[in-house]
Amino acid sequence: MLINDLISSRVSLAPMAGITDYVLRSLVREHSKTCLLTTEMISSEALTQVKDTDIVKRDENHSPVSYQLSGHKPKMIADCAEYLQKYADMIDINMGCPVNKVVKGTDGCALMRNIDLAEEIVRTVKAQIKIPLSVKFRLGYTMDELNYVEFGERMQSAGADFITIHARTRSQMYAGKADWKRVSELKRNVDIPVFANGDVNSIESAEQCLEESQADGVAVGRGILGDPTLIYRIEQYLNKGIYLPPPTLEEKIEGMRKHLLKEVEFRGEEVGLKFVRKFYPYYVNGFQGASKCRGELVLMDNIRDINKMLDEILMRNRILM
Ligand SMILES: Cc1cc2nc3c(=O)[nH]c(=O)nc-3n(C[C@H](O)[C@H](O)[C@H](O)COP(=O)(O)O)c2cc1C
Repeated sequence: MLINDLISSRVSLAPMAGITDYVLRSLVREHSKTCLLTTEMISSEALTQVKDTDIVKRDENHSPVSYQLSGHKPKMIADCAEYLQKYADMIDINMGCPVNKVVKGTDGCALMRNIDLAEEIVRTVKAQIKIPLSVKFRLGYTMDELNYVEFGERMQSAGADFITIHARTRSQMYAGKADWKRVSELKRNVDIPVFANGDVNSIESAEQCLEESQADGVAVGRGILGDPTLIYRIEQYLNKGIYLPPPTLEEKIEGMRKHLLKEVEFRGEEVGLKFVRKFYPYYVNGFQGASKCRGELVLMDNIRDINKMLDEILMRNRILM
């Protein structure tokens, strides 16, 4: 597939470690048939050690799907990328992760301070794979090092086919507001498509982000928490002018039941239930007493009790409505 086919929907699922796993990608795909999905970051060091890992699992209908690699050793990343071609429609290189553990090892956003190495990674991977290659980076490492335009230009000349840019610096981590306007400067200076990312969590913010960034599309991260329909709803609006409302509490609770069941199927009951707890605040909210319910839900360790509690939440809220 060519890059323009992979991103034709103008909306992608941003990679999120511990979030955009096989299950969440499947849930997003139930609604959006065409958005570009992205896996969680896959460490090239780890994949080199163990190939048979759940992190690479996909279904037939997951295409278009991009597999994201992290690391700093060009040949190792290229070998992993070559291997991942049996699953992936595109390979993405993580050049934006701000986490200490990652940047200390010169992976993630640390590559924005080492453009030569970043370039070598792109060149080496590009030479070894037959599918499109993308990079995901930030505005720079700090506000004093806003090198995203030069960085993007150099990734393009090294062979990148596509860019996703999170419009914050590494120092900002996730604080403050994503600066979508800056993305337009990158857009003006590269020919490859650019998706803007950061704080797109509704149809309205997607529209505003596209206007300010002049980007070719948007990548949605945290907005899909508790609402796997968001990407589909943004696509429907951008491509057909149809405005679908956010899910009701009833729909969110149904969404949570499904998410829970699928994680349990995927990971087994004990691990699955623990894994899915981080999603509860996003599904169970917006009504009086929600925080108390969440507090009780996280202590539950079997599906029957959780479902009973969800039934009670629905019943109570129906009476109040
Ligand atoms: C829990 C979490 C995990 C993330 N993991 C990754 C990752 O593995 N790779 C990556 O490039 N970005 C990762 N990100 C960053 C997101 O892809 C995205 O750039 C950021 O959250 C901003 O977009 P948003 O406001 O739509 O969430 C992660 C973000 C969060 C909140």
